[in-house]
Amino acid sequence: MITTAFTRRFALATPVVGAPMAGVAGGALARAVSLGGGLGMIGVGSATPASFVTEQGAIPRGDGLPFGVGLMAWVLPDRPELLEATIAATPDLVSVSFGDPAPWVPRLHDAGIAVAAQVNTVVDLHRALIAGVDVVVAQGSEAGGHTGHRATLPLLQEVLALTDRPVLAAGGIATGAGMAAALAAGAAGVWIGTPLLSCPEGLNSPEARQRVRAATGEETVLTRAFDVAEGVAWPERWPGRALVNDFSRVWHGREDELVHDADARQLVVDGRRTGDPATAPVYAGEAVGLVTTERSATEVVRELDAGAELALRAVAGLLS
Ligand SMILES: Cc1cc2nc3c(=O)[nH]c(=O)nc-3n(C[C@H](O)[C@H](O)[C@H](O)COP(=O)(O)O)c2cc1C
Repeated sequence: MITTAFTRRFALATPVVGAPMAGVAGGALARAVSLGGGLGMIGVGSATPASFVTEQGAIPRGDGLPFGVGLMAWVLPDRPELLEATIAATPDLVSVSFGDPAPWVPRLHDAGIAVAAQVNTVVDLHRALIAGVDVVVAQGSEAGGHTGHRATLPLLQEVLALTDRPVLAAGGIATGAGMAAALAAGAAGVWIGTPLLSCPEGLNSPEARQRVRAATGEETVLTRAFDVAEGVAWPERWPGRALVNDFSRVWHGREDELVHDADARQLVVDGRRTGDPATAPVYAGEAVGLVTTERSATEVVRELDAGAELALRAVAGLLS
């Protein structure tokens, strides 16, 4: 059994967090991750209704399983009801990522809820530490979904040198050996999203899951094109990593032009509605090439845990 400061704090059987992925991670996915011994999280996007948090949180909670909720800091000033619904759902962990978590930490702590923040730079880290977060997540640019520009391993090492709080590694981890590498570097656990994109418990469509299984690790792009097309107010410093498709091939890097091309933007809006993966974004990270079968999230977590334990034992065997 792998024990870290993170597993001890949340009484987990393995230091694996199922990332809060808006549009994918609802209560069923969170429940399946927690059943595997990890901590499953529910993703809340900029347009997610507050009732979603209430309904989805009841799924893992109803089974007595731990769970978390992932909020986005830049969304909360306009949508304070998301924080209220989150607190009422009594999660074990709430992440406040992509912006300054400081305004939201006291309310969560007053409610007895631990707080995590994904950080993409050292400046983000200092801001999160000053805000008083309990858990830091070093999110590298290999990650699926919105992320920064620094790679996981150098960011993780720098973050670890600057704090004693538990640090989780996010971005590009999809095998037991990869998880072992993060733990060997000093992480207290891993925060995985892409490895869960082909799980039947996800809210993503069967077509999106099929695209994930078919994609290689070379077929992702870190782009603002989809956000510009969909008119989402994501701050520019966090582009999104998605599978390359017909739309991104034409418009990635031409976002300034895209702003003025309503017909092109409409392609993505229509693609979202009809579920057309040629134009709608399928957010996924560089580890997507390792996701080739449809498997329950419980199995994904158990396999990661078992593989990491084997790898850690093998690594210890390198010592003479
Ligand atoms: C489809 C998708 C949606 C995501 N949505 C969110 C989100 O709503 N909130 C958040 O904090 N992170 C979100 N993320 C980022 C994850 O929390 C996490 O950092 C990332 O998945 C880890 O890297 P990996 O994809 O290589 O495992 C999302 C990631 C993906 C793939």
